[in-house]
Amino acid sequence: MKSSNFKGCFFLVTAFMLCLAVRSQLTSGFYSATCPNLLQIVRSQVMMAIKAETRMAASLLRLHFHDCFVNGCDASILLDGDQSEKFALPNLNSARGFEVVDAIKAAVESACSGVVSCADILAIAARDSVLLSGGPTWKVLLGRRDALIPNKAQANVSLPSPFDNLTAIINKFAAVGLNDITDVVSLSGGHTIGLAKCSTFSNRLFNFSGNGSPDSTLDTSMLSDLQALCPVNGDGNKTTVLDRNSVDLFDNNYFQNLLTGKGLLGSDQILFSSDQAISTTKSLVQIYSGNQPLFFSDFANSMIRMGNITPLTGTSGQIRKNCRVVNS
Ligand code: HEM
Ligand SMILES: *[C@@H]1O[C@H](CO)[C@@H](O)[C@H](O)[C@H]1NC(C)=O
Ligand SMILES: *[C@@H]1O[C@H](CO)[C@@H](O)[C@H](O)[C@H]1NC(C)=O
Ligand SMILES: *[C@@H]1O[C@H](CO)[C@@H](O)[C@H](O)[C@H]1NC(C)=O
Ligand SMILES: *[C@@H]1O[C@H](CO)[C@@H](O)[C@H](O)[C@H]1NC(C)=O
Repeated sequence: MKSSNFKGCFFLVTAFMLCLAVRSQLTSGFYSATCPNLLQIVRSQVMMAIKAETRMAASLLRLHFHDCFVNGCDASILLDGDQSEKFALPNLNSARGFEVVDAIKAAVESACSGVVSCADILAIAARDSVLLSGGPTWKVLLGRRDALIPNKAQANVSLPSPFDNLTAIINKFAAVGLNDITDVVSLSGGHTIGLAKCSTFSNRLFNFSGNGSPDSTLDTSMLSDLQALCPVNGDGNKTTVLDRNSVDLFDNNYFQNLLTGKGLLGSDQILFSSDQAISTTKSLVQIYSGNQPLFFSDFANSMIRMGNITPLTGTSGQIRKNCRVVNS
């Protein structure tokens, strides 16, 4: 009796795992034979880069996100050329860390030449960046291959804008298969680290909806700080911190900020303050603001789901030697 239960259970577990394998085809041990030291190599490179510039953790996390939302996690964002995604609106003068990715790739190539994809390097570097900033960790799934072409136009369409309303943001996540509200809210918590330019939030500061007033959901003392930093016709490239409490620490302060009107981007604050949030994101923002462990575990799970967005596997794509160009 007991033994047949066990066998039935074993069969179900095996069937379930096969299902998972067919769905994503990524595995944590993908390079264990071909590049056994991969994870240590990337970790030490990311550590060096963050030591040189703390913000790099944020920049590397964002690169993986901007890669995955455009044609899947295929390192398309790393390709140079006149069709480069680097020139699409959400990335132009904004996406950064490409030299660090080059350095990681060079270190990986010298240990295991022609084996590890640039897309996987982005996924590992993002995981390490979060962990090294004090955030959660997870087993990163591997086996992605690299795209042969960029998709600049799609980058314009797929990536959320700080000026989008909440419905548009939820729809953009759903369009890449992230159709759980948990993904939208927990991944937005990535804004617990890093910086943003005046041009991405100055619309909130003086004449928000054409009524001559600032965004009423923005805390008034934060408003005056930001008005001084980003005056009308000022330098749109000036930056400030996304999380005013702890810019370099990966924590749940981002959500606490939203409760007091201290989200920096319009797209941050609407998760709590918009009418659309009441039936969608608001309650989860409140929960994460008081429960960092839950935010951490949801963030880790959502990062794995984001990392699973339509990877190239098997013989699709290629393993680029240089992340910036396809192999000749
Ligand atoms: C929900 C929709 C999102 C919107 C509208 C959005 C928008 C933005 C904008 C406008 C910036 C500032 C860019 C600049 O000024 O150059 C930024 C920065 C950043 N974003 Fe997002 N983002 C979103 C979601 C995410 C997600 C899902 C992640 C990662 C899980 C993420 C991670 C980051 C990080 C870490 C930075 C700082 C980068 C740095 O300092 O170099 N964002 N985001
Ligand atoms: C991206 O969108 C902006 C404005 O929405 C437009 O000016 C630009 O030409 C678009 N770029 C591409 C590559 O589609
Ligand atoms: C949200 O944005 C979308 C796309 O820009 C627009 O079609 C829609 O009317 C907006 N919804 C609200 C409630 O403002
Ligand atoms: C605010 O913007 C609206 C619409 O663009 C414009 O008509 C109005 O004059 C502006 N008000 C101020 C005070 O700048
Ligand atoms: C921001 O910097 C970029 C690159 O240095 C430059 O091309 C752009 O004109 C600047 N934008 C503003 C608003 O100053």
